[in-house]
Amino acid sequence: MAEKIGLGIDLGTANLLVYLEKKGIIFNEPSVVAFDQESGKIVAAGIDAHRMIGKVHSKISVIKPLKNGVISDMYAAKELLTYVFNKVQNITEKELSNSSTVMCCPSEVTKIERDIMIELANNLGIKDIFIEEEIKAGALGAGLEIFKSKGVMIVDIGGGTADVGVLSFGDIVLSRTIRMSGNYIDAEIMKQIKKDYKVEIGELTSEKCKIELADLRDNAPLTTIRYAGRDIVRGIPKYVEITSEDVRRILVPTYTEIVKLITAVLKDTPPELSADIYENGLLLTGGGSMIKGIEDFIWKRIQVPVRIAKNPFTCVAEGAKYLLKNRGDYLVNPMQL
Ligand SMILES: Nc1ncnc2c1ncn2[C@@H]1O[C@H](COP(=O)(O)OP(=O)(O)OP(=O)(O)O)[C@@H](O)[C@H]1O
Ligand SMILES: [Mg+2]
Repeated sequence: MAEKIGLGIDLGTANLLVYLEKKGIIFNEPSVVAFDQESGKIVAAGIDAHRMIGKVHSKISVIKPLKNGVISDMYAAKELLTYVFNKVQNITEKELSNSSTVMCCPSEVTKIERDIMIELANNLGIKDIFIEEEIKAGALGAGLEIFKSKGVMIVDIGGGTADVGVLSFGDIVLSRTIRMSGNYIDAEIMKQIKKDYKVEIGELTSEKCKIELADLRDNAPLTTIRYAGRDIVRGIPKYVEITSEDVRRILVPTYTEIVKLITAVLKDTPPELSADIYENGLLLTGGGSMIKGIEDFIWKRIQVPVRIAKNPFTCVAEGAKYLLKNRGDYLVNPMQL
């Protein structure tokens, strides 16, 4: 009988990462897929589809299969993963049906949202499926020692959700999620620019503007960058000068909400574990942890030392590697519960 393959899938709101045992990360691109409306066929996936956002004619639809950390379009999610399995790595249906697959999800998902992930796996022909919390996989992939009797805190700031969890003895003691993160900031920047400058900018431009101008430091220098958009009054293309202050006005309240979430989790953490966290600090993962000055921003508000993972974008997929390697000990098939 053919050897059973191990797969790890971090199907994020912004980025999809697929880990294949013995090979490593075989796909790391945006969670986006583009279809030809007439034939229903995929015309692009990943980075190529991402480049099409806001730029295609009506015969092509560009879809992000996830919203706020959970699957919102099952068909698109299945097609995107099928594309990755067939085109990128040539993983056959037989291999998939004989695989052990770990799929990661935010910690506070409803039963229905979790069941949708299992349904996606079934639609892909995967029988041996394990759903694991992103924060646990992320902690393992970032090299945190979670199996000791010591509390560790992990904060994942992704595209769709901010997830805070405390782990001890190898599992999550408590966790909370808010569906307010990178994509929310991009949408708020778009709204603000439209209101203040009467210029509409696209989703990709808004994200670029966030990445280039975001700075949470108190003494951050004022920077201005010119972006192309559309004048909403005259309907013609127009450049708009966006400042780091414009972005900061959205960034600060959003990251304040994330700090409130951390505080809420700390409040409910048993005292012995919270003492460990105050001593050892918390670990940040996900793309939203890349913002300048984030460590000080959190430290000043709650006096807990903050570290950023070395691999903030890939640690969840790398954690899947660990879980697969030790699957006999840590993974429970939800269909066998
Ligand atoms: N340098 C940066 N500064 C700020 N934000 C960034 C930076 N680089 C990437 N991001 C943001 O990080 C987010 C993507 O992070 P990540 O890949 O961890 O999300 P995800 O895992 O797909 O989402 P989720 O886990 O919430 O479903 C995007 O919103 C992106 O704009
Ligand atoms: Mg993620």
